[in-house]
Amino acid sequence: MDFDHVLVVGAGQMGGGIAQVVAASGRRVSLHDPYPGAVERGLGAMRKSLERLGADVDETLARVTPVDDLVEADLLIEAITEDAAAKEELFRRVDETLPQGAILASNTSSIPITSLAAVTARPERVIGMHFFNPVPVLKLVEVIRGVETSDETAAAIVALARDLGKEPAEARDFPGFVSNRILMPFINEAAYALMEGVAEPEAIDTIAKLGFAHPMGPLALADLIGLDTCVAIMEVLHRGLGDPKYAPCPLLRQYVQAGRLGRKTGRGFYVY
Ligand SMILES: NC(=O)c1ccc[n+]([C@@H]2O[C@H](COP(=O)([O-])OP(=O)(O)OC[C@H]3O[C@@H](n4cnc5c(N)ncnc54)[C@H](O)[C@@H]3O)[C@@H](O)[C@H]2O)c1
Repeated sequence: MDFDHVLVVGAGQMGGGIAQVVAASGRRVSLHDPYPGAVERGLGAMRKSLERLGADVDETLARVTPVDDLVEADLLIEAITEDAAAKEELFRRVDETLPQGAILASNTSSIPITSLAAVTARPERVIGMHFFNPVPVLKLVEVIRGVETSDETAAAIVALARDLGKEPAEARDFPGFVSNRILMPFINEAAYALMEGVAEPEAIDTIAKLGFAHPMGPLALADLIGLDTCVAIMEVLHRGLGDPKYAPCPLLRQYVQAGRLGRKTGRGFYVY
């Protein structure tokens, strides 16, 4: 499958990045986000990123069309807020709008692909296509099969990921898949270390960077991901795996309550 026309829903940091890499591959993208100003912000971020990468800005952006509602396409890539009810509602609507043969992919970090598939009449064509932030830079795409996902669907999405210049890695549909099952407890533990006064944020991040050769520390990474998204993922791990070790750190919750969501609001563990 070529996926000549891709509908990306959600124009935040991930949806914008996904629209950018799909457009850069020569495909046509329709970008939908009902929140006022969201698509414009997404396009602005894409422009900056393309300029930074030295890519052909106008040619790439010309392939991205903002749309006011869902439109027919060969593939959906959903990148809305990490909220199961909102995603299920969207998958129900998309299932009615997109042609029978279209594939419905979610960029969710943790919500079960099987439950998104179950609200559609095409569970064999529903799959997880999990990109990493920043999408134009990071190579990984975690491909997650729901219980009913067909081999054809998985093969088509693996091939697409390669065609976008990414490296796909397949995982089963288990809470947090592989990436966030490992990453989020790491971030959560860093938040506990801060809350318990073990070290200052800079020291915690320096230890991870210089001691473990990570390109950035867990608290800076949490700020990049969004603390609201981190809490939402920890809650999925906690509920889905039933082990108290996955409960979100109270400090993370408190920062979210305060609106300190990380880079996207200008303040998280650090001030931007
Ligand atoms: N942030 C990361 O590092 C990261 C990495 C991988 C995957 N993800 C996943 O990607 C998804 C989006 O995360 P993000 O960081 O881009 O969040 P974000 O807050 O930057 O963007 C979410 C966007 O979705 C829009 N939105 C909300 N509800 C919607 C709806 N019902 N219909 C259409 N649009 C809607 C919002 O207006 C917003 O623009 C989440 O599922 C998240 O778990 C995030």
